Amino acid sequence: MKLLAGKTAIVTGAARGIGEAIALKFAEQGADVAFTYVSDSSAEKAAALESKLQALGVQAKSYKSNAADFAACESLVNDVLATFGKVDICVNNAGISKDNLLLRMTPEQWDEVMTVNLKSVFNMTKQVIRPMMKARQGSIINMSSIIGEMGNAGQSSYAASKAGIIGFTKSVAKELGSRNIRCNAIAPGFVETDMTSYLKDGEGADKYKAGIPLGRFASGEDIANVALFLASDMGNYITGQTISACGGLNI
Ligand code: NAI
Repeated sequence: MKLLAGKTAIVTGAARGIGEAIALKFAEQGADVAFTYVSDSSAEKAAALESKLQALGVQAKSYKSNAADFAACESLVNDVLATFGKVDICVNNAGISKDNLLLRMTPEQWDEVMTVNLKSVFNMTKQVIRPMMKARQGSIINMSSIIGEMGNAGQSSYAASKAGIIGFTKSVAKELGSRNIRCNAIAPGFVETDMTSYLKDGEGADKYKAGIPLGRFASGEDIANVALFLASDMGNYITGQTISACGGLNI
């Protein structure tokens, strides 16, 4: 029996990286998947992923939608409901980093990171809770980061946005637990994606890996497996939690 058979998921920012790995994992486990991308340059990748998901025998559709835009999220969820009929799982994965020392960080850089990383989670969660409340069930998964728990020099905006996600996650869990809607966060360490391409090889990478008890960076699939657990009925008694998936970097 597939773990997500009969469920419908929305994953934001899934044309590549962790989001793509989650979309694939969910489809492999039987979920119908609606996913978003934001820039025209990702359209080809999104179309390729859509076909890949459909080849797994599930319903899948990509949507060009900006998670940072409240009205866009409202029409996205309406469109998904019209096409798929329901939303059981929402993965708020879209995110960016604009790293800079605080001395040099501009208000515009701060605002952009907070809007894309944190307001997007509000935007999407606000839209999916209505159908989830009607269905008396749902699983919301927010992509935080180890940086939101530990902080990092040069990443104050990113850290603040990811820490904000943790507080938001706990509050939503408390508000909606009685409706059988669970809300959890994942806090990955270093994951090999375009976002961390600067870490790929060489001495720098070796130095980072030396500090990780498991001695390697995560793959997208490592993180997708945690999302699968939280999305599925295996995670039925888990809410308000932040699951660290960092190879032990935080111990
Ligand atoms: P990525 O840069 O490869 O993928 C992020 C995706 O989000 C891209 O496809 C991008 O187009 C999309 N996106 C950006 N802004 C968007 C918007 N406004 N609306 C919709 N989509 C948007 O990054 P990666 O590594 O896959 O990251 C995914 C999530 O995981 C992010 O929230 C990131 O902060 C988080 N994360 C990543 C870690 C890593 O080491 N790669 C570690 C911890 C957390």
